This record gives sequence, structure tokens and C-alpha cells, in this order.
Amino acid sequence: MSDFTSVAKTSDLAPGECMTVDAGGTSIALFNVDGTFYALDNTCAHKGGPLGDGFCEGHIVKCPWHGWPYDITTGECTRHEGEKVHAREVQVVGDDVQVRV
Ligand code: FES
Repeated sequence: MSDFTSVAKTSDLAPGECMTVDAGGTSIALFNVDGTFYALDNTCAHKGGPLGDGFCEGHIVKCPWHGWPYDITTGECTRHEGEKVHAREVQVVGDDVQVRV
């Protein structure tokens, strides 16, 4: 059974921003959407671009390489039906942001 791993402090990531974090050796794109944290695997379904370096607008992140848009809350690509990245469970304990790996 997989466990939650601490990846950041809540103060590390302002609302509307994203970053790349390491969760037990797995690269994760972490997002703050209006104070709620979300995590996706950091590998775009197109050609592997790093979504943690993407451009956020509301609950959408655009891949920095060719602009594929993803729903941050589900990992589904909103332009190419059926394409998606794995969405990870996130919990906040105190000021600790934890991702299930
Ligand atoms: S690698 Fe992400 S859009 Fe091409």
C-alpha cells in the first residue's frame, strides 16, 4: 500500500502557481488552485514535458513545451480526449503538503 510523502510547505506555493517536487523519487507537478493543493505526474502525455513548469490559469495548466492543456483536478487533457496524466492524492497536515506515491 502506498503512503503519503511530504513534498512542500503550504507557504512554498502561492495560489495560482505550480512547481516541481520530488515524492520518494517520483517527479510530481504540484499546484495551488485558490488555496487547494493538487498533484499530477510531472510528465506530459504528449512528449513528456514537465507540467510543474507549466502555465496555470484557474484549474488548467498548459504544458510548457507545446501547450497541451490539462485539468489540474483530474489530469485529463482538455484538448485531446482520452489523453491524461495520473492525478495523485494530496493531503495537507498542518503546513505540510503531502502526496500519495
Ligand atoms: S510535451 Fe507537453 S504539449 Fe508537447
